[in-house]
Amino acid sequence: MSFSIEQFRVPGKVAIVTGAGGRANNIGRAYALGLAAAGASVVVADLNEKGAKAVCEEIHAAGGKAIAAGVDISKPDSVALMVKAATDAFGGVDILVNNAALMLELGSPKAADIPLDDWNRILSVNLTGALICAQAVLPSMRTRGGGKIVNQLSAGAFPATSIYGIGKLALYGLTTTLARQLGPEKINVNAIAPGNATSEAGSALMPEGAPHVKFLEASVAMRLRGAPDELVGTLLLLCSPAGDWITGQVIHVDGGWVIRP
Ligand SMILES: NC(=O)c1ccc[n+]([C@@H]2O[C@H](COP(=O)([O-])OP(=O)(O)OC[C@H]3O[C@@H](n4cnc5c(N)ncnc54)[C@H](O)[C@@H]3O)[C@@H](O)[C@H]2O)c1
Repeated sequence: MSFSIEQFRVPGKVAIVTGAGGRANNIGRAYALGLAAAGASVVVADLNEKGAKAVCEEIHAAGGKAIAAGVDISKPDSVALMVKAATDAFGGVDILVNNAALMLELGSPKAADIPLDDWNRILSVNLTGALICAQAVLPSMRTRGGGKIVNQLSAGAFPATSIYGIGKLALYGLTTTLARQLGPEKINVNAIAPGNATSEAGSALMPEGAPHVKFLEASVAMRLRGAPDELVGTLLLLCSPAGDWITGQVIHVDGGWVIRP
């Protein structure tokens, strides 16, 4: 079969994007809009159901198909309802984008003395939540003969120097582990590691002029900040037939953050 640009499209596929309905200009919103524009029916899922509905309306206005789902990805019962909503509306699930995470709200807790309840709460969302969602969509992907799972990592995991980074680095381990185990079932599992994306949350973490921001600006090969839309092309590669031979990989979309000296 010769290459066609159509291989980057996902017509007729059903995609769940978690964390797609929160703060302004969030990355999940860009992912949901991108997948819908590429032909998918999208489940816009978030703890913030009102925000998810607003993104859903944007997709409808652009002529795409979408439903909103309020979900807490750390709770298996809630995730089961999200997958049921996807199945009731669109017949099943082909694509899962594990994008939801706690980031801005974490502050800077120190691993040396963080209370275990706080540690468990963070990892229950940023690591276990992705596993719960993957386990919940697998029966449908298996029935449909395959699927694509994309986990959202972060440049902050390479190396991990925070509890947020620890969760993202562990999510990389989940990515490679699931990729090995699910490859024979034609389920690709990959990850995207963004640099600083200019979502409301990402911008709040990197205020202009702050010392750590100046340091990063001076050490990144290309540029520190990118728009959420600049991540969408990579997502489509990993979710579409164009990426059928890619699994267990992390693609760094960060302007050269992780190759700093
Ligand atoms: N913005 C950046 O610079 C940047 C960089 C690297 C990685 N990331 C990652 O990209 C993803 C999106 O980041 P963002 O900048 O859009 O942040 P964001 O805070 O706007 O988005 C995260 C979303 O996850 C949702 N969420 C949190 N807990 C949840 C739960 N238990 N169940 C369901 N939804 C839940 C929130 O409501 C929010 O809408 C995150 O995984 C983040 O770690 C962001």
